[in-house]
Amino acid sequence: MKLRNKVTIVTGGSQGIGLSIAELFAAEGAKVIVADIGDAPKTNAVIDFHALNVTDRPACKQFFDAVVDKYGKIDVLVNNAGITRDAMTRKMTDEQWDMVIDVNLNGLFNLTRYIGPHMQENKIGSIINISSIVGEGGNIGQSNYSATKAALIGLTKTWAKEFALKGAQVRVNAIAPGFILTDMVKTIPQEVQDKLAASVVLGKMGLPEDIAKASLFLASDDSAYITGHTLSVNGGLRM
Ligand code: CAA
Repeated sequence: MKLRNKVTIVTGGSQGIGLSIAELFAAEGAKVIVADIGDAPKTNAVIDFHALNVTDRPACKQFFDAVVDKYGKIDVLVNNAGITRDAMTRKMTDEQWDMVIDVNLNGLFNLTRYIGPHMQENKIGSIINISSIVGEGGNIGQSNYSATKAALIGLTKTWAKEFALKGAQVRVNAIAPGFILTDMVKTIPQEVQDKLAASVVLGKMGLPEDIAKASLFLASDDSAYITGHTLSVNGGLRM
Protein backbone atom coordinates (compact mmCIF):
# COMPACT_ATOMS: atom_id res chain seq x y z
CA MET A 1 0.00 0.00 0.00
CA LYS A 2 1.85 3.05 -1.25
CA LEU A 3 -0.77 5.67 -0.33
CA ARG A 4 -2.22 4.39 2.94
CA ASN A 5 -4.61 7.03 4.39
CA LYS A 6 -3.40 9.71 1.99
CA VAL A 7 -6.25 12.11 1.26
CA THR A 8 -6.29 12.49 -2.51
CA ILE A 9 -8.35 14.64 -4.85
CA VAL A 10 -8.67 13.69 -8.52
CA THR A 11 -10.41 16.25 -10.72
CA GLY A 12 -12.21 14.92 -13.77
CA GLY A 13 -12.09 11.49 -12.16
CA SER A 14 -15.46 10.14 -13.28
CA GLN A 15 -14.08 8.50 -16.41
CA GLY A 16 -11.02 7.85 -18.55
CA ILE A 17 -7.55 8.58 -17.20
CA GLY A 18 -8.92 10.27 -14.04
CA LEU A 19 -11.04 7.26 -13.08
CA SER A 20 -8.12 4.91 -13.63
CA ILE A 21 -5.98 7.06 -11.32
CA ALA A 22 -8.74 7.20 -8.69
CA GLU A 23 -9.18 3.41 -8.74
CA LEU A 24 -5.47 2.65 -8.48
CA PHE A 25 -4.99 5.16 -5.67
CA ALA A 26 -7.94 3.69 -3.75
CA ALA A 27 -6.44 0.20 -4.18
CA GLU A 28 -3.20 1.58 -2.72
CA GLY A 29 -4.98 2.71 0.45
CA ALA A 30 -5.73 6.35 -0.37
CA LYS A 31 -8.93 8.12 0.64
CA VAL A 32 -9.98 9.29 -2.80
CA ILE A 33 -12.27 12.21 -3.56
CA VAL A 34 -13.30 12.57 -7.18
CA ALA A 35 -14.43 16.05 -8.25
CA ASP A 36 -16.11 16.09 -11.63
CA ILE A 37 -18.72 18.08 -13.51
CA GLY A 38 -20.27 14.83 -14.76
CA ASP A 39 -21.92 11.95 -12.93
CA ALA A 40 -20.31 9.96 -10.13
CA PRO A 41 -17.88 7.34 -11.44
CA LYS A 42 -19.22 3.89 -12.20
CA THR A 43 -16.79 1.82 -10.17
CA ASN A 44 -16.57 -0.70 -7.35
CA ALA A 45 -13.73 1.25 -5.75
CA VAL A 46 -14.46 3.18 -2.54
CA ILE A 47 -14.47 6.74 -3.79
CA ASP A 48 -16.09 9.90 -2.40
CA PHE A 49 -17.70 11.95 -5.20
CA HIS A 50 -18.26 15.71 -5.29
CA ALA A 51 -19.98 17.44 -8.21
CA LEU A 52 -17.70 20.33 -9.14
CA ASN A 53 -17.22 22.58 -12.13
CA VAL A 54 -13.57 23.68 -11.84
CA THR A 55 -14.38 26.93 -13.68
CA ASP A 56 -16.69 27.98 -10.83
CA ARG A 57 -14.40 29.91 -8.48
CA PRO A 58 -16.67 30.11 -5.41
CA ALA A 59 -17.53 26.41 -5.80
CA CYS A 60 -13.82 25.51 -5.82
CA LYS A 61 -13.29 27.35 -2.52
CA GLN A 62 -16.36 25.65 -1.00
CA PHE A 63 -15.13 22.27 -2.19
CA PHE A 64 -11.67 22.85 -0.67
CA ASP A 65 -13.22 23.90 2.67
CA ALA A 66 -15.56 20.88 2.67
CA VAL A 67 -12.73 18.41 2.07
CA VAL A 68 -10.54 19.90 4.79
CA ASP A 69 -13.54 19.91 7.17
CA LYS A 70 -14.28 16.25 6.50
CA TYR A 71 -10.77 14.79 6.17
CA GLY A 72 -8.61 17.30 8.06
CA LYS A 73 -5.95 17.54 5.34
CA ILE A 74 -5.17 17.03 1.66
CA ASP A 75 -2.05 15.04 0.76
CA VAL A 76 -2.32 14.56 -2.99
CA LEU A 77 -3.98 16.57 -5.76
CA VAL A 78 -4.26 15.26 -9.31
CA ASN A 79 -5.29 18.07 -11.66
CA ASN A 80 -6.73 15.94 -14.43
CA ALA A 81 -9.93 17.73 -15.52
CA GLY A 82 -9.59 18.77 -19.13
CA ILE A 83 -11.51 19.10 -22.39
CA THR A 84 -10.80 19.42 -26.10
CA ARG A 85 -12.59 21.56 -28.69
CA ASP A 86 -10.44 20.86 -31.73
CA ALA A 87 -10.51 23.06 -34.83
CA MET A 88 -8.03 24.47 -37.31
CA THR A 89 -6.99 27.93 -36.09
CA ARG A 90 -8.69 29.67 -38.99
CA LYS A 91 -12.00 28.05 -38.01
CA MET A 92 -11.73 28.20 -34.23
CA THR A 93 -14.59 30.06 -32.55
CA ASP A 94 -14.26 32.37 -29.54
CA GLU A 95 -16.30 29.85 -27.59
CA GLN A 96 -13.97 26.94 -28.44
CA TRP A 97 -10.93 28.98 -27.46
CA ASP A 98 -12.37 30.38 -24.21
CA MET A 99 -13.91 27.12 -23.03
CA VAL A 100 -10.67 25.15 -23.25
CA ILE A 101 -8.64 27.91 -21.58
CA ASP A 102 -11.25 28.17 -18.83
CA VAL A 103 -11.43 24.47 -17.96
CA ASN A 104 -7.86 23.32 -18.60
CA LEU A 105 -5.94 26.35 -17.35
CA ASN A 106 -8.16 28.53 -15.16
CA GLY A 107 -9.71 25.44 -13.59
CA LEU A 108 -6.29 24.22 -12.50
CA PHE A 109 -5.54 27.56 -10.84
CA ASN A 110 -8.97 27.83 -9.19
CA LEU A 111 -8.35 24.78 -7.02
CA THR A 112 -4.56 24.71 -6.64
CA ARG A 113 -4.52 28.30 -5.31
CA TYR A 114 -6.02 26.87 -2.10
CA ILE A 115 -4.61 23.35 -2.02
CA GLY A 116 -0.97 24.27 -2.77
CA PRO A 117 -0.67 26.73 0.15
CA HIS A 118 -2.58 24.26 2.38
CA MET A 119 0.04 21.58 1.62
CA GLN A 120 2.82 24.10 2.18
CA GLU A 121 1.41 24.87 5.62
CA ASN A 122 1.30 21.12 6.36
CA LYS A 123 4.88 20.88 5.02
CA ILE A 124 4.03 17.87 2.85
CA GLY A 125 2.13 17.04 -0.31
CA SER A 126 2.24 16.01 -3.95
CA ILE A 127 0.52 17.75 -6.85
CA ILE A 128 0.32 16.09 -10.26
CA ASN A 129 -0.77 18.10 -13.28
CA ILE A 130 -1.93 16.07 -16.27
CA SER A 131 -0.42 17.83 -19.29
CA SER A 132 -0.11 16.23 -22.74
CA ILE A 133 2.34 15.33 -25.48
CA VAL A 134 0.51 18.10 -27.34
CA GLY A 135 1.79 20.64 -24.79
CA GLU A 136 5.34 19.47 -25.53
CA GLY A 137 5.19 19.23 -29.28
CA GLY A 138 2.03 20.95 -30.55
CA ASN A 139 -0.68 19.38 -32.71
CA ILE A 140 -2.60 20.36 -35.82
CA GLY A 141 -6.12 21.53 -34.86
CA GLN A 142 -5.34 22.00 -31.16
CA SER A 143 -4.10 25.59 -30.69
CA ASN A 144 -6.36 26.07 -27.66
CA TYR A 145 -5.62 22.71 -26.02
CA SER A 146 -1.86 22.77 -26.68
CA ALA A 147 -1.62 26.31 -25.27
CA THR A 148 -3.16 25.15 -21.99
CA LYS A 149 -1.11 21.97 -21.78
CA ALA A 150 2.15 23.87 -22.40
CA ALA A 151 1.13 26.50 -19.84
CA LEU A 152 0.62 23.77 -17.34
CA ILE A 153 4.26 22.70 -17.62
CA GLY A 154 5.35 26.25 -16.71
CA LEU A 155 2.86 26.33 -13.85
CA THR A 156 4.23 23.02 -12.57
CA LYS A 157 7.73 24.48 -12.30
CA THR A 158 6.53 27.71 -10.66
CA TRP A 159 4.43 25.86 -8.10
CA ALA A 160 7.27 23.40 -7.44
CA LYS A 161 9.39 26.40 -6.43
CA GLU A 162 6.65 28.32 -4.58
CA PHE A 163 5.05 25.59 -2.51
CA ALA A 164 8.44 24.24 -1.35
CA LEU A 165 9.36 27.56 0.26
CA LYS A 166 10.24 27.47 3.97
CA GLY A 167 11.35 23.84 3.86
CA ALA A 168 8.03 22.31 2.81
CA GLN A 169 8.30 18.90 1.13
CA VAL A 170 5.58 19.74 -1.36
CA ARG A 171 6.37 18.32 -4.78
CA VAL A 172 4.71 19.42 -8.00
CA ASN A 173 5.15 17.38 -11.17
CA ALA A 174 3.43 16.98 -14.52
CA ILE A 175 2.68 13.96 -16.66
CA ALA A 176 2.55 14.35 -20.43
CA PRO A 177 0.52 11.43 -21.75
CA GLY A 178 0.78 10.50 -25.40
CA PHE A 179 -2.31 9.18 -27.16
CA ILE A 180 -4.23 7.14 -24.61
CA LEU A 181 -7.31 5.09 -25.51
CA THR A 182 -10.11 7.17 -23.96
CA ASP A 183 -13.27 8.80 -25.28
CA MET A 184 -11.23 11.97 -25.94
CA VAL A 185 -8.89 10.22 -28.36
CA LYS A 186 -11.81 8.45 -30.04
CA THR A 187 -12.90 11.90 -31.34
CA ILE A 188 -9.84 11.94 -33.63
CA PRO A 189 -10.76 10.98 -37.21
CA GLN A 190 -9.92 7.30 -37.79
CA GLU A 191 -7.32 7.98 -40.50
CA VAL A 192 -5.47 10.37 -38.14
CA GLN A 193 -5.67 7.76 -35.35
CA ASP A 194 -4.19 5.10 -37.64
CA LYS A 195 -1.29 7.38 -38.63
CA LEU A 196 -0.64 8.20 -34.98
CA ALA A 197 -0.63 4.59 -33.77
CA ALA A 198 1.78 3.66 -36.56
CA SER A 199 4.31 6.27 -35.43
CA VAL A 200 4.43 5.21 -31.76
CA VAL A 201 7.75 3.42 -31.10
CA LEU A 202 6.00 0.80 -28.97
CA GLY A 203 3.49 0.31 -31.79
CA LYS A 204 0.25 0.99 -29.93
CA MET A 205 -1.84 3.63 -28.19
CA GLY A 206 -1.52 3.82 -24.40
CA LEU A 207 -4.07 2.76 -21.79
CA PRO A 208 -5.44 4.85 -18.89
CA GLU A 209 -3.65 2.42 -16.51
CA ASP A 210 -0.29 3.49 -17.99
CA ILE A 211 -0.96 7.03 -16.76
CA ALA A 212 -2.36 5.81 -13.43
CA LYS A 213 0.86 3.90 -12.69
CA ALA A 214 3.00 6.94 -13.50
CA SER A 215 0.72 9.04 -11.26
CA LEU A 216 1.13 6.56 -8.41
CA PHE A 217 4.89 6.88 -8.69
CA LEU A 218 4.71 10.69 -8.52
CA ALA A 219 2.15 10.67 -5.68
CA SER A 220 4.07 8.24 -3.49
CA ASP A 221 7.34 8.44 -1.59
CA ASP A 222 9.00 6.48 -4.40
CA SER A 223 9.52 9.87 -6.07
CA ALA A 224 10.39 11.79 -2.87
CA TYR A 225 13.29 13.66 -4.51
CA ILE A 226 11.55 14.50 -7.80
CA THR A 227 9.86 17.88 -8.27
CA GLY A 228 9.23 20.32 -11.12
CA HIS A 229 9.53 17.44 -13.56
CA THR A 230 7.40 16.52 -16.58
CA LEU A 231 7.21 12.77 -17.05
CA SER A 232 6.42 11.82 -20.66
CA VAL A 233 4.37 8.63 -20.91
CA ASN A 234 3.92 8.25 -24.65
CA GLY A 235 5.31 4.92 -25.85
CA GLY A 236 8.18 6.77 -27.53
CA LEU A 237 5.96 8.85 -29.83
CA ARG A 238 8.01 11.90 -28.87
CA MET A 239 11.54 11.72 -27.43
N1 CAA B 1 -1.88 15.67 -40.20
C1 CAA B 1 -1.84 16.07 -41.48
N2 CAA B 1 -2.80 16.81 -42.07
C2 CAA B 1 -3.86 17.12 -41.32
C3 CAA B 1 -3.99 16.73 -39.97
C4 CAA B 1 -2.95 15.96 -39.43
N3 CAA B 1 -2.97 15.55 -38.14
N4 CAA B 1 -5.14 17.22 -39.48
C5 CAA B 1 -5.74 17.88 -40.51
N5 CAA B 1 -4.95 17.81 -41.60
C6 CAA B 1 -5.24 18.38 -42.92
C7 CAA B 1 -6.40 17.70 -43.59
O1 CAA B 1 -5.95 16.53 -44.27
C8 CAA B 1 -6.93 18.75 -44.54
O2 CAA B 1 -6.14 18.80 -45.69
P1 CAA B 1 -6.80 19.25 -47.09
O3 CAA B 1 -7.17 20.70 -46.91
O4 CAA B 1 -5.71 19.03 -48.09
O5 CAA B 1 -8.00 18.36 -47.30
C9 CAA B 1 -6.68 20.03 -43.75
O6 CAA B 1 -5.67 19.74 -42.77
C10 CAA B 1 -7.93 20.51 -43.04
O7 CAA B 1 -8.35 19.44 -42.18
P2 CAA B 1 -9.84 18.97 -42.09
O8 CAA B 1 -10.54 19.05 -43.39
O9 CAA B 1 -9.85 17.69 -41.34
O10 CAA B 1 -10.49 20.14 -41.23
P3 CAA B 1 -11.68 20.01 -40.33
O11 CAA B 1 -12.04 21.42 -39.97
O12 CAA B 1 -12.75 19.15 -40.88
O13 CAA B 1 -11.12 19.25 -39.02
C11 CAA B 1 -9.81 18.97 -37.07
C12 CAA B 1 -9.98 19.73 -38.37
C13 CAA B 1 -11.06 19.17 -36.18
C14 CAA B 1 -8.61 19.56 -36.37
C15 CAA B 1 -9.68 17.48 -37.38
O14 CAA B 1 -8.68 17.30 -38.37
C16 CAA B 1 -9.28 16.70 -36.15
O15 CAA B 1 -10.08 16.40 -35.30
N6 CAA B 1 -7.99 16.35 -36.04
C17 CAA B 1 -7.45 15.64 -34.91
C18 CAA B 1 -6.99 16.56 -33.82
C19 CAA B 1 -6.30 15.76 -32.74
O16 CAA B 1 -5.29 15.12 -32.99
N7 CAA B 1 -6.83 15.82 -31.51
C20 CAA B 1 -6.28 15.09 -30.44
C21 CAA B 1 -7.41 14.71 -29.51
S1 CAA B 1 -6.85 13.64 -28.19
C22 CAA B 1 -6.18 14.66 -27.11
O17 CAA B 1 -6.16 15.83 -27.24
C23 CAA B 1 -5.57 14.02 -25.92
C24 CAA B 1 -4.13 14.34 -25.81
O18 CAA B 1 -3.72 14.94 -24.83
C25 CAA B 1 -3.22 13.85 -26.83
